[in-house]
Amino acid sequence: MEKYTYKQEINITPELMARINELTSHYPEDKRKSALLPVLHEVQDAHDNWLSQDLQIKIAEILNIQPIEVFEVVTFYTMFNQKPIGKYMFEFCRTSCCMIRGAEDMMDYTCQKLGIKEGETTVDGMFTVVGVECLGACGYAPMMQLGDFYKEHLTKEKIDEIITDCRAGKITLHDK
Ligand code: FES
Repeated sequence: MEKYTYKQEINITPELMARINELTSHYPEDKRKSALLPVLHEVQDAHDNWLSQDLQIKIAEILNIQPIEVFEVVTFYTMFNQKPIGKYMFEFCRTSCCMIRGAEDMMDYTCQKLGIKEGETTVDGMFTVVGVECLGACGYAPMMQLGDFYKEHLTKEKIDEIITDCRAGKITLHDK
């Protein structure tokens, strides 16, 4: 098994802590674990879109649960990243409808254009490309997720445009 070597600066700001407290306040004191998913999203958003093992341990401490309870959730869902990723992460759906409509070609084209393989990040830290399972937007295939948004009916031209917009800082990643 590969040794985990990724380090991250942990920054639980008062604003982030207030948001965590707000999320956990919906549950009884001894059931703070119930807020784990939204808390992981908040903390990941505040930490360059990834969660190091040390940060996961910190979250366990805050929620008063065991680190393994955080690890098992983070390792189950592809939406949580366990190592540094690019500022723009292209998550291509590679399930049946998207595959039939050319998802593989779109992903290959993007990887080739960016000079990386699936799962890799460009050397400038700008882009990561990953394949994920169905994102529930099958009617808009082929599609990908970028931040909080879906990019649908993808074509090579659309991908060119998205990459250009990312480089120009014109892409919004979060809906809040
Ligand atoms: Fe791609 Fe469902 S198969 S969104």
